[in-house]
Amino acid sequence: MKTAQAFIFDLDGVIVDTAHYHFLSWKKTASSFGYHLTEADNEQLKGVNRVVSLERILEWANHRLEPAVFDQTLIDKNEDYLKRIQSITTEDALEGVPELLSFLRQEEIPVALGSASKNAPLILKYLELLPYFQALIDGNQVSKSKPDPEVFLKGAEALGVEPQDCIVFEDAAAGVAAAKNAGMQVVGLGDAEVLDAADFHFKSIAEIPMDFYKQLINRS
Ligand code: BG6
Ligand code: MG
Repeated sequence: MKTAQAFIFDLDGVIVDTAHYHFLSWKKTASSFGYHLTEADNEQLKGVNRVVSLERILEWANHRLEPAVFDQTLIDKNEDYLKRIQSITTEDALEGVPELLSFLRQEEIPVALGSASKNAPLILKYLELLPYFQALIDGNQVSKSKPDPEVFLKGAEALGVEPQDCIVFEDAAAGVAAAKNAGMQVVGLGDAEVLDAADFHFKSIAEIPMDFYKQLINRS
């Protein structure tokens, strides 16, 4: 294992289980043009930005929207999603995440967020985890969707660390590909088959032993 000088976290599905809320909102959108969105479809939307997600659903549904309706559909989807996430509290951080962030702070390891979501700062605020991040790169700062490496390269740059010295935590195939395209090590969280391009696999952060982090940052 190569050592890491900085950690970059995806948000949805890594820090908090908002992936499910995105699914429910997209399912509602898809059903409005008669398409039944499945969990398998949703796997291909994880990590992908809002515009590309809608384009993909329209392609599956073999449906077209006029530009103005397309834009309104994005607004409606986000309003539905915002309603679903407004009850998020500190209790909703996934198991082991606050402990890991606190460990990294204690060890003075720089931490960035690398998320496609424009709602990322709001969600971190609900979770009261904002103070743990030295850099936030989210859907408002990037123009290219994962698997493009832009989001993670910007994260490394904001932290002042070389890409090859970063480790990324991701739950999406597109996100794992983005991190590999950035030349970073990646921990894949979830189905090892879906995330087969990751360097390491765990079901979730809760499953990762403390020794793994200690070795990564060369403290063992
Ligand atoms: C990613 C999610 O983190 O953010 C996707 O995995 C989501 O499902 C994307 O579509 C964009 O999020 P938002 O909050 O800007 O619509
Ligand atoms: Mg994710």
